Amino acid sequence: MPRAVKKLFVKTYGCQMNQYDSDRLFEVMGEIGFESTDEMAQADVVVLNTCHIREKAAEKVYSDLGRIKLIRNKRLQNGEETTVVVAGCVAQAEGREILARAPIVNIVIGPQSYHRLPDYIFSAEQHKQRIVDTDFPTDLKFEHLPGRSIKKLTAFITVQEGCDKFCTFCVVPYTRGGEYSRPVKEIVKETIELARHGTKEITLLGQNVNAYHGANKKGQPVSLARLIKKVAKVEGLERIRYTTSHPNDMSDDLIEAHKEIEKLMPYLHLPFQSGSDKILKAMNRDHKIDKYREILERVREARPDIALSTDIIVGFPGETDQDFEDTMQLVRDIKYAQAYSFTYSPRPGTTAALMEDQVEKHVASERLQRLQTLLKEQQLEFNRAQIGKKLPILLEKRGREPGQLVGRSPYLQLVHVIAPDEMMGRIVEVEIVDTTRNSLAGELKKAQNKELV
Ligand code: 5AD
Ligand code: SF4
Repeated sequence: MPRAVKKLFVKTYGCQMNQYDSDRLFEVMGEIGFESTDEMAQADVVVLNTCHIREKAAEKVYSDLGRIKLIRNKRLQNGEETTVVVAGCVAQAEGREILARAPIVNIVIGPQSYHRLPDYIFSAEQHKQRIVDTDFPTDLKFEHLPGRSIKKLTAFITVQEGCDKFCTFCVVPYTRGGEYSRPVKEIVKETIELARHGTKEITLLGQNVNAYHGANKKGQPVSLARLIKKVAKVEGLERIRYTTSHPNDMSDDLIEAHKEIEKLMPYLHLPFQSGSDKILKAMNRDHKIDKYREILERVREARPDIALSTDIIVGFPGETDQDFEDTMQLVRDIKYAQAYSFTYSPRPGTTAALMEDQVEKHVASERLQRLQTLLKEQQLEFNRAQIGKKLPILLEKRGREPGQLVGRSPYLQLVHVIAPDEMMGRIVEVEIVDTTRNSLAGELKKAQNKELV
């Protein structure tokens, strides 16, 4: 009897770069005959692609491993083996410790080594070895990965990875390594491959994506703005986004790109972390709030309708009521379309974890609540401002209700609309008729049932 096709289940935690890595993992494993499954109990290989950015994210992995143990034991009773892999940033940060803490784990593999997973799966299955690879290998993973074969209307492409900025709260320089930009040629090739498989929108990813300085054919560094111009030429691709940016790398040509490049969406995620210069200094952010405000003024001049997003940490060591008030004031002044906000979480190995004046948990939580109330109001306000407008919506998937499709506006808002299935994957003009904080409702009026693409 022929052996059934092997199945792979991947759970992705954390950021968009991890989602990209998971897509690449499917492609790598597809090369050795694995198919994906959404059912963990069906999987011969279970991968947890983990995040270490805050304590909660990291601890979640261990509680999930507890559940996986039950599933694995049940499968064993039916004579089926399960190989359990911890990949990503917790793998990188904790390495061998994971094997000790969770005996069911077979393979621990950091984010720079996942192109080697097929070999490790073989060793684990055939030789019952337990493997840890948390090297920052000199052979770059990107050179070993197969071409893009995944079919996705919207896809990520990592163009820059790692960070040299060493913000004092952040684990990324330790989990993702030093800053590296991929060559232009590789990125254009990936974009073409994705577009051939139907991708309409790409998001260029990097921990500091606007610090991108990958080499062109002549070996000269190319800025993110120029890279965006190049990928904008790829046929079939309709929309380009990028994330996440650092205020210090917000160059003039990138700001101009928002005016000049039609495919570049009017959306900017620019974290400021704290509205207090004193806290920014303690965070080693190396810029002042006035500079951040000035950048956003220029961005808004270049693209008046741009949707602004940000990351904010409250309760960083030494944050006083006044420092927090400065954060609130900045948010009131800028008015964000949406934002991510967190209480500070001390991370092992980072400078801030050793700082005195750690803020009490209940104080940080209260501040976060106040901040999030304000951010929610702003998000609702931004959404309400779209009512009555006609927006081009890229329809991406089916909605919960029958006949409903869900897409994204240029400003990254979710939009629900009753539309025929054939419209999936197209950009259509939708009139916005209603809104909640999290999504918009639109109508495809007959007369406006105009296909934009
Ligand atoms: N505690 C809380 N939030 C953090 N972030 C990064 N490190 C920490 C930490 N130790 C937030 C920052 C960053 C986002 C990805 O996560 O706001 O921009
Ligand atoms: Fe989490 Fe950072 Fe790793 Fe992304 S790079 S998964 S945010 S720790």
